[in-house]
Amino acid sequence: MRVGVLTGGGDCPGLNAVIRAVVRKGVKDHGFEFVGFRDGWRGPLEGVTMPLGIEQCRGILPRGGTILGSSRTNPFKLDDGVQRIKDNLAAAGVDALVAIGGEDTLGVATRLADLGVNVVGVPKTIDNDLSGTDFTFGFDTAVNIATEAIDRLHTTAESHHRVLVVEVMGRHAGWIALHSGIAGGASAVLIPEIPFDIDAVCAHVETRFQSEYAPIIVVSEGAVPADGSGMTLASGETDAFGHVRLGGIGDRLAKEIEQRTGKEARAVVLGHIQRGGTPTAFDRWLATRFGLQAIGAVADGEYGVMVALRGTNIVRVPLIEGTGVLKVVSPEEYAEAQVFFG
Ligand code: F6P
Repeated sequence: MRVGVLTGGGDCPGLNAVIRAVVRKGVKDHGFEFVGFRDGWRGPLEGVTMPLGIEQCRGILPRGGTILGSSRTNPFKLDDGVQRIKDNLAAAGVDALVAIGGEDTLGVATRLADLGVNVVGVPKTIDNDLSGTDFTFGFDTAVNIATEAIDRLHTTAESHHRVLVVEVMGRHAGWIALHSGIAGGASAVLIPEIPFDIDAVCAHVETRFQSEYAPIIVVSEGAVPADGSGMTLASGETDAFGHVRLGGIGDRLAKEIEQRTGKEARAVVLGHIQRGGTPTAFDRWLATRFGLQAIGAVADGEYGVMVALRGTNIVRVPLIEGTGVLKVVSPEEYAEAQVFFG
């Protein structure tokens, strides 16, 4: 049995831990051979491969990024994309494919599985917004990085009597903002799921200063002001590579707060720092267990599935469960946290 492995979408701490677990168990327990496909779906689309075995996986467990490279290539955007993938998998002698990725990558995997490709998915995203699994690896690392930043910003905000707005990742879901905001003791958290009221945010700022506490406001990059708030929001721009660039909400929010309250405000954008570097122990553990279960599915000939965390168990669920509908913060979860804010 020859197994292909690819990593697609935005990189994420723990990708290498998955690759390592897949390869080690595949070689040691099942005698499988492996081939790495470079840069997500671009690899099988263009037939770009690299050797992948136990040797290539030595020392990669604590390393961020992915030794296979990544991209946001989607073969379904090309007329002959699917046929090219099938041809290149056949040319590489690949019997089964392990695709590690988020919404887009697993969406492609789901459609390829329907078209007869033997594929097993592994869910990843720092945003933790994939359905079907309680957590994705990479999220814990991102939350820890954001929490450390918030901890540090408390002292500088207090010293200068300033508002500190911390912009974290989360295009569609506020998981990173909510978890790091709670863990870091932020005074307000604004998330994409619930449009924020700029008047209420400014009232919060005034109240905090009255009690001599500098406000720390954590905002997801995808958060938006409620209609009619009077706060303008530049829409996400599409760059030359076809990616929508969000960002900027932190800066606009800080400026708006300054104008409306007269309090000095600064914005800090954590950006890709949240995705880079070494994974936490939890993410190494989760990614490793995902990898072991994924190669177990290949060994059992169970395709069209993705691995998932349910409680403390790693299970296999139909790929379709992970794609289509994003897992977002519920109004109840957001409301529950409000006791710590304000
Ligand atoms: O991986 C998901 C994510 O972290 C989003 O929160 C963010 O909007 C996006 O990636 C940014 O990705 P890139 O700049 O790599 O296109």
